[in-house]
Amino acid sequence: MGIGGSDMYRQQILDHYKNPRNTGEIEDPTFTHVGENPMCGDEIRMDVVLSEDEETIEHVAFRGDGCAISQASASMLTEELQGMAVADLRAMDRDDIVDMLGVDISPMRVKCAVLAEKVAQDGVDIYFDELDIEKTMTEDDDAETPE
Ligand code: FES
Repeated sequence: MGIGGSDMYRQQILDHYKNPRNTGEIEDPTFTHVGENPMCGDEIRMDVVLSEDEETIEHVAFRGDGCAISQASASMLTEELQGMAVADLRAMDRDDIVDMLGVDISPMRVKCAVLAEKVAQDGVDIYFDELDIEKTMTEDDDAETPE
């Protein structure tokens, strides 16, 4: 797999790859985002449900096609994301993913390891950017309303 580390962590990664958690689709998610690793074309699609105040991730499901590290990382990340604050997801970085996996990732495989994290973060960013655009447009509409 191109990774080093203790057997326990390697077993855990293999287990998540073979029996991924939180797979499938969520009906009526707050947003869906699909991302791919441009180097290989492997892909992850994530459905996310946010709490009513949009500050917390309530539920996440994913489906994907890719190497063991990308899919195991997606499975492990979806477990961590349930109940996580949106701000905490935004603050995650590569080191958090390496810690989560518990193994040394060769530079070649870092893109595999962080694919799911990138999909979740890009999805959140796009969702809130679109909300901002909608808000701005609504405000513009209000401004243009003749008195
Ligand atoms: Fe494609 Fe790992 S080889 S994500």
